Amino acid sequence: MQAPFLRLNGVAKRYLRPDAPAVEVLRRVDLDVAAGESVAIVGPSGSGKTTLLQLIGLLDLPDEGEVSFAGQDVATLAEGPRQLLRNEYIGFVFQLHHLLPQLTVLENVLVPAWATGCTAAHQERAQELLARVGLAERSEHRPAQLSGGERQRVALVRALLLRPALLLADEPTGSLDHAGAADLAELLVELNQTEKLTMITVTHSRELAACMSRSLLLQDGVLRQSA
Ligand SMILES: Nc1ncnc2c1ncn2[C@@H]1O[C@H](COP(=O)(O)OP(=O)(O)O)[C@@H](O)[C@H]1O
Ligand SMILES: [Mg+2]
Repeated sequence: MQAPFLRLNGVAKRYLRPDAPAVEVLRRVDLDVAAGESVAIVGPSGSGKTTLLQLIGLLDLPDEGEVSFAGQDVATLAEGPRQLLRNEYIGFVFQLHHLLPQLTVLENVLVPAWATGCTAAHQERAQELLARVGLAERSEHRPAQLSGGERQRVALVRALLLRPALLLADEPTGSLDHAGAADLAELLVELNQTEKLTMITVTHSRELAACMSRSLLLQDGVLRQSA
């Protein structure tokens, strides 16, 4: 049998604090995600959703358990190869877009290409994605000249520039109004289907969660099927 695209097995994570008991955030998280799946993670504030996404996104390592991509346990990778894996496979969208205010939309979208050098192919991909999310006419605008929903779409395009296999989104509609959230949800579903993009979305929005192929609840340090 082929290894799943992503597997978390018995993942535990605690934060140590000086002069206070450690915060046990994740106790035993198990999760298998197949390529092309879309998964929503819901849970109360402080339940560890961001922590979990950071472990999946290789921004941090678990204290116990395994995080593996296609059967490869990431803990066995050195920092260099792990960074490479992150850059090549994973795109991030955060609740707040984190766009750079002094750059244009197009320049913001091209930031992930700086590490390796921005090519004509990157420019083309950026323009194509901006057109796809309805922002072709906005490429020379600055973030401050856009609506919240438009900024979040720019952040999504930036996350997709390097063609990640996995998109991680941390409350991507958290700062949007109802219409903006609905638009972004629709866009995520379309990308999941047309780009065969695997996605994991942390969200408080029932609507967004309902758009994903399944929904999981993080509570008391474990992940379970959401009602
Ligand atoms: N770097 C950190 N150091 C100490 N505690 C942290 C750190 N990051 C998060 N926490 C704590 O871990 C718990 C889970 O945080 P988080 O993963 O951000 O939850 P969520 O995203 O579900 O709101 C919270 O109690 C938070 O205060
Ligand atoms: Mg969070």
